[in-house]
Amino acid sequence: MNAKYAQHRLIIWFTRAWDVLGAVNIRAKILGIVLGLVILMGVAATIEVRLLLEQTLTSQTYERSVAIGRDLAARATDLVLMQDYYGLFRLLRDTQINNPDVRYAFIIDSEGTIVAHTFGRGFPVGLRDANTVTAQEHHRSILLTTDEGDIWDTAVPIFDGRAGIARVGLSLAARERTVTTVTGQLLLTTVMVAAIGITAAAFLTWILTRPILQLVELTKAVAQGDFSQRARRWANDEIGALTDAFNAMSDALAQAERERAEREQIRTQYVAQIITAQEEERKRIARELHDSTSQALTSLLIGLRSLADRYRLPDLKQQVDDLRGIVGQVLNDLHALARQLRPSVLDDLGLAAALQRYVADCRARSKLTIDLALIGLDNVRLMPVVETALYRIVQEALTNVIRHAHATTASVVIERRSDRVRAIIEDDGCGFDPDNIHGDGHLGLNGIRERAELLNGQLIIESAPGHGTTLYVEIPLPPTREGCDEPHSAG
Ligand SMILES: Nc1ncnc2c1ncn2[C@@H]1O[C@H](COP(=O)(O)OP(=O)(O)O)[C@@H](O)[C@H]1O
Ligand SMILES: [Mg+2]
Repeated sequence: MNAKYAQHRLIIWFTRAWDVLGAVNIRAKILGIVLGLVILMGVAATIEVRLLLEQTLTSQTYERSVAIGRDLAARATDLVLMQDYYGLFRLLRDTQINNPDVRYAFIIDSEGTIVAHTFGRGFPVGLRDANTVTAQEHHRSILLTTDEGDIWDTAVPIFDGRAGIARVGLSLAARERTVTTVTGQLLLTTVMVAAIGITAAAFLTWILTRPILQLVELTKAVAQGDFSQRARRWANDEIGALTDAFNAMSDALAQAERERAEREQIRTQYVAQIITAQEEERKRIARELHDSTSQALTSLLIGLRSLADRYRLPDLKQQVDDLRGIVGQVLNDLHALARQLRPSVLDDLGLAAALQRYVADCRARSKLTIDLALIGLDNVRLMPVVETALYRIVQEALTNVIRHAHATTASVVIERRSDRVRAIIEDDGCGFDPDNIHGDGHLGLNGIRERAELLNGQLIIESAPGHGTTLYVEIPLPPTREGCDEPHSAG
């Protein structure tokens, strides 16, 4: 249970550390790594060198203390035997002068009395018994720890122990000084290497991150649909390969975008041509129906009347009247059909008149109350394409209201401003979800959108189930020059 908790804590700790470390940029990461490594190596090397140096200097001092002690014992032999204490004192002083590390030296005679020493007045208490040596021994050294630092104390028997003992103490203060100096120098070197390392790493990361940052910028541009930019290849490494891949991707995207735009343009042209062809065809059929077919039917009507007038037979009159009724009905239907196909009013009298006529027809056909408001269209003709588009848009929208909306009232507003014309067709019917009409089928609303967009306009549908429907169509008008304002005047 406890181990599991510790593991859990560890994971949390790692996650937090990663959150912090992961958030800093690459430059800081690399600099951090370089700095960390240099400091780690510097400190490790310093510690290692310190230990080695300490060991070496300690054993060197030990060997020197033995050599000096033995030399002292050899030279002191005669002086001790002759009890020349002044000579002994001079010997000790010379030893100290020749070897500055010698902290002290003294001679103990065979009785155990200190006969000469370098301490001036007071001889330290307990120093005499701190180290001793037997006659059989070559020498004996011990490391004394004193207030002044460590001292190698060596005792050497004089004249095989028969003339006493020579003692010498070699201070290790020089060792401390050397170690401190070397440590300081190593740390200074570490700092300098760290400084050089940081400079080099900063330069390297600059070289390394520059192409990456550039790629990031370009990727943002691509995300915003700008495929024109290309990354510069800085080096022949993995980032260079990434740059190539990026450029190839941009090429492919730009190519795909060009093809899409071409296809879109072709599609737009097709749609425009289809709409124009359809209008032309409708116009032609409407004219045909009006001119030839209804002329023929009118002649038939007149013929039937004269037939009935000429032969006043009751049976025949009844039959002729029936036939005339049928022909009249066909004629009416024909006119309605022709109007629906292409109202000649639209070409002859303009959008306002054609819409008034069409709305009147709709009112007659359905139980719907339809308001029609035409603003800024009095005695004004728009461009024929715009008039046709707006007429067809209103036609399709009102057909939808009658067919789908189950509405009681609808309103149509056409408003012309100096730079645009707007159509709003609204009903209080059942409404629908405009997001569901994309795709196939639904040619009506999509046709409205196509017609508006072909003229650089747009369609906005506002509708929701149970809340009625409003279509906003806006089409920009080309700027008109002062004086030749209205494109066509219905005069
Ligand atoms: N005014 C409206 N009120 C309610 N629903 C509508 C209205 N206009 C369109 N819709 C819905 O949107 C669909 C798509 O209309 P449309 O594109 O004209 O195709 P169609 O009329 O051939 O079904 C219709 O089937 C209908 O469900
Ligand atoms: Mg429809």
